[in-house]
Amino acid sequence: MLEAKRLAGELGAVYVPRRRLCELNVDFYYVVEKGRLSIKWKGGEFFFHPSTAILRMRNIKAGQRDYLIETLQPEGNEVVLDTTFGLGSEAILMAAFLPEGKVVGLEASLHVYTIVKYGLERFQTDIEWLREAIKKIELLHANFKEFVREASDNYYDVVYCDPMFENPVYESSAMNPLRPFAVYDTVTEEDVKEMLRVAKKKVIIKTHVKDSLLSRIRVDELKGAKKSGVVYGVIHKR
Ligand SMILES: C[S@@+](CC[C@H](N)C(=O)[O-])C[C@H]1O[C@@H](n2cnc3c(N)ncnc32)[C@H](O)[C@@H]1O
Repeated sequence: MLEAKRLAGELGAVYVPRRRLCELNVDFYYVVEKGRLSIKWKGGEFFFHPSTAILRMRNIKAGQRDYLIETLQPEGNEVVLDTTFGLGSEAILMAAFLPEGKVVGLEASLHVYTIVKYGLERFQTDIEWLREAIKKIELLHANFKEFVREASDNYYDVVYCDPMFENPVYESSAMNPLRPFAVYDTVTEEDVKEMLRVAKKKVIIKTHVKDSLLSRIRVDELKGAKKSGVVYGVIHKR
């Protein structure tokens, strides 16, 4: 109860005890339960879980390709700016390959940020790589459009950007609960120019081949699975 009250204060929300839930007339509400924070609504729930990162790491260990890690080409000491943190699955995966580096994440949606920040800070696991990777993440509530414009030249080794797709892949079930709370900003040429200025090595952008991004922004390299249409474009710093 104390934790729920504290969070309600932080979010500028109203605290309601569980027994009065039925009186609520709201689109969604936060619930603190067994050390976990979630947003619930009729027929849905959004909470932090690194399931996709675990699955992708399992595939990598089994010898499968991972296009994000292939495009990142980590040396292990890089500082990566993940401009669109979301659930943090890809940030966690990248951080696992950066034993001497770290990932700084930005999330513009206050709801997504609150749920994921709370989850990251309290996540308990006996999977060692995951525990270590989470420790290497610093998550900020910020919009990348302003953040990159204020950052110094060459401050990060790599800048990563994974905006919400214009053509959503609904089969990506881990992303579905986040969709109602996400920010749907378009990445412009000017944004990419700023990301490249801030990056020492490269900018990596994830998109769907059917989205307009690749018709507006020129990339040097493109990797991804033809079947899913999800691709990673790399723009190298010259
Ligand atoms: C497709 S999701 C990212 C998923 C992430 N790569 C993962 O592994 O979970 C995009 C996220 O970026 C956030 N976002 C969109 N525009 C943003 C902006 N201008 N600044 C920061 N975050 C933004 C959305 O709210 C959403 O949570």
